[in-house]
Amino acid sequence: MTDSTTNIGMLARVTGFSADGHRVFFDLRNGNSGWLDQVGDGLRSGDVILISGEGPGQRVERVDASAWPDELWVGVVKIKLDNVTVIEASGRYRQVRTRDGVAYEVGNTVEAGDVQGVVRVLSKEPIKHIELPGIDDEVVNRFRAGGSSDRQLTFAAFGGLGSVVKRAHELIELPLRQHEKLTKIGARAIKGVLFTGPPGTGKTMLARIIAAQAGAAFFEISGPEIFSKWYGQSEELLRRIFDAAAAATEEPAIIFFDEIDSVAAQRDDDAHEASKRVVAQLLTLMDGFDSKGNVVVIAATNRPQDLDVALRRPGRFDWEIQFPLPSMEDRLDILIKTARGLQTLDPLPHNFVAAKTDGWSPADLSAIWTEASLLAVADDRSEIFVEDYIGGFERVERQRKRVGHRPTNAGSAA
Ligand SMILES: Nc1ncnc2c1ncn2[C@@H]1O[C@H](COP(=O)(O)OP(=O)(O)O)[C@@H](O)[C@H]1O
Ligand SMILES: [Mg+2]
Repeated sequence: MTDSTTNIGMLARVTGFSADGHRVFFDLRNGNSGWLDQVGDGLRSGDVILISGEGPGQRVERVDASAWPDELWVGVVKIKLDNVTVIEASGRYRQVRTRDGVAYEVGNTVEAGDVQGVVRVLSKEPIKHIELPGIDDEVVNRFRAGGSSDRQLTFAAFGGLGSVVKRAHELIELPLRQHEKLTKIGARAIKGVLFTGPPGTGKTMLARIIAAQAGAAFFEISGPEIFSKWYGQSEELLRRIFDAAAAATEEPAIIFFDEIDSVAAQRDDDAHEASKRVVAQLLTLMDGFDSKGNVVVIAATNRPQDLDVALRRPGRFDWEIQFPLPSMEDRLDILIKTARGLQTLDPLPHNFVAAKTDGWSPADLSAIWTEASLLAVADDRSEIFVEDYIGGFERVERQRKRVGHRPTNAGSAA
């Protein structure tokens, strides 16, 4: 029975016919497909039809193609024949009917729809999948940090972890300063030093301090950034940075590769192809730069166990400095040093807080001051009081519990 007052129907698009031409297959807007028998001649693939009614009263009528709004997409024309055009879009080939009206040729970037075919030419040129920004000296210089210009970056600001600081002096600062003497002795140059340890233990901070104090040119590369922002050009960028570091021969240079695990995870099967190439490039560069050039590469990671073992071979990152979580004394020193420069009403109970923060990283400890400052300001004061300090400690403690820190589990990664 047909309801003559509501006129409800289904919009469909013909996709094909059975061999005898009897049966018509179609797609519906909702993505379903269906078929109809004996609807008469004259339908063609791509036609838009409206199916209404049911049973004997069913009607099929052809409607204008515009009733089925064609989703438009962008691609590059690969083949153009009289009746068919092949377009590469989103990494696959799509076939549309060649229609009159729009003039286009192979190689053009076009906008097209499944039904309408090519709608317009967007560019005579094929678009590239990724538009790569050029790498020039200016780009390389952006990786060159201010170095000694940053006054804040002194060893005096770095609390605790005395053995770490001492080892860093020996392995990095001393070789950079006493390069000639060491060369005379015939010592094998230290090329790569790996900083390992849990997040927030000061790896990045110490690398920057060393660079500032050693008066070295400092290039800082962040693993995640070189991989996302410079995707497809990471290798070229690395090469240029190493070149720039080696170029200034009178001046020592430090290349700091932060969060190296983000690119240099084990090159096993599921490691990304691009990551393999970046690691291979890094290995080539480390092997290639000659030890006379006064360059040390520092790499930092929270996940040393994930690093490609090839990076740990002699002449690469064969020196390691482990950043442990701070001891009670370290924590006391860190709390005192991170409080410097803040307005505080002394004395503050540093011993109490240091005793309560076993398993905390230096970053956790310094976060106490942020919270304490907020509490002081909320109370309309411009000085941190004991109550703010304790309140700040409690807030950070709660946050640590929320994110599931496992106290004293020094080996765990973030
Ligand atoms: N030994 C330290 N003394 C004082 N503050 C520190 C120390 N280590 C870390 N911090 C603080 O924690 C923040 C994060 O440290 P960061 O060097 O980024 O850790 P990592 O690189 O190991 O994850 C630093 O910006 C600094 O404010
Ligand atoms: Mg870091």
